[in-house]
Amino acid sequence: MTVCEFRAGLEGVPVTQSSISFVDGQHGILEYRGIPIYELAEKSTFLETAYLLIWKELPTKEELEAFENEIQYHRRLKYHIRDMMKCFPESGHPMDALQACAAALGLFYSRRALDDPAYIRAAVVRLLAKIPTMVAAFQLMRKGNDPVQPRDDLSYAANFLYMLNEKEPDPLAAKIFEVCLVLHAEHTINASTFSAMVTASTLTDPYAVIASAVGTLAGPLHGGASEEVIEMLDAIGSVENVRPYLDDRLQRKERIMGFGHRVYKVKDPRAIILQGLAEQLFEKFGHDKYYDIATELERAVEEKLGGKGIYPNVDFYSGLVYLKLGIPTDLFTPVFAISRVAGWLAHWKEQLNENRIFRPTQIYTGLHSAPYVAIGDR
Ligand code: CMC
Repeated sequence: MTVCEFRAGLEGVPVTQSSISFVDGQHGILEYRGIPIYELAEKSTFLETAYLLIWKELPTKEELEAFENEIQYHRRLKYHIRDMMKCFPESGHPMDALQACAAALGLFYSRRALDDPAYIRAAVVRLLAKIPTMVAAFQLMRKGNDPVQPRDDLSYAANFLYMLNEKEPDPLAAKIFEVCLVLHAEHTINASTFSAMVTASTLTDPYAVIASAVGTLAGPLHGGASEEVIEMLDAIGSVENVRPYLDDRLQRKERIMGFGHRVYKVKDPRAIILQGLAEQLFEKFGHDKYYDIATELERAVEEKLGGKGIYPNVDFYSGLVYLKLGIPTDLFTPVFAISRVAGWLAHWKEQLNENRIFRPTQIYTGLHSAPYVAIGDR
């Protein structure tokens, strides 16, 4: 059977049936397993949300404790992985380092038993546990420092900030980072999730699945926008320059980073939550020029482009929050990956349940029966 209409970027083409998450872009709704994102952001933790996404239901108290304990136990990295990282160039992008390390896990855990629930659980635990440690270790090692060992008395979010900044985070900062992880954990069929599903459909190992998703997330059209938002706010430089900068950029038909979305035609619900978090952070740790420039830019863009359905997306406020949490700009996308690994794993598991290898077709536009021209005659 061939479906003949070609849609660039598969826009609007369903590639799976899924019960993991739901987006209504007209009304600004995002749900994980049917639960509204604002409920989860307020009441859940990242690991509880990850459990919900992967195993379909919120865990009981005992199930959650067991899951958290397993994650805690597996947070350390094998010294071979750390040795491998030592050979990476300091100037290399942290997403490349993360992709290489995620793939390398497959070397250490090579047994593949995709129909064994214990194997699935072990892979989920290892990936959720080790990816934050990898990101933090690369950050310290590229500065010439030894990685910091994870701390078992800290939550998942607090421990990451501790391993990254070498000091225990302020409780508000840790809480806000936890919410950021919940907000970024899953978002239907985006490019990296689709990449994970295609790789999963070949029945390869889960480390290859996650490594391929990390590689896809790294691209500037996908995970990289929050980094570019900060560059843009730097280029604007002051509140007074917001409107002249915007007019100039729009006149040159350039995009305003952190605005617009293929699906959302209203303000992204995650951006609404992140803006509230940014306000709390700035109130506690002091205002700086970024927040004032950002709010003025949002006002100006809404006046000019709101009619076209262009509003802030998740990346507009996440960069502001990350910066205030002491996360360097080139770690914004790896931090996105720390969270999104939950969604990728949920889709991996769902794909395995109803697997058929992805093998789409093409509309051939080349020649037929073309002559082979001898090399000397070309
Ligand atoms: N600034 C100015 N104009 C815009 C923007 C923007 N950020 N986004 C869309 N438009 C205009 C666009 O010029 C077009 O106008 P017209 O109809 O007059 O030609 C109209 O809106 C529709 O744009 P489109 O390119 O058809 O929209 P799309 O759905 O293909 O693109 C997008 C979605 C996210 C790629 C785009 O909005 C964009 O480039 N935004 C800036 C980059 C960004 O913030 N990306 C993060 C996306 S959210 C995280 C993720 O999914 O990974």
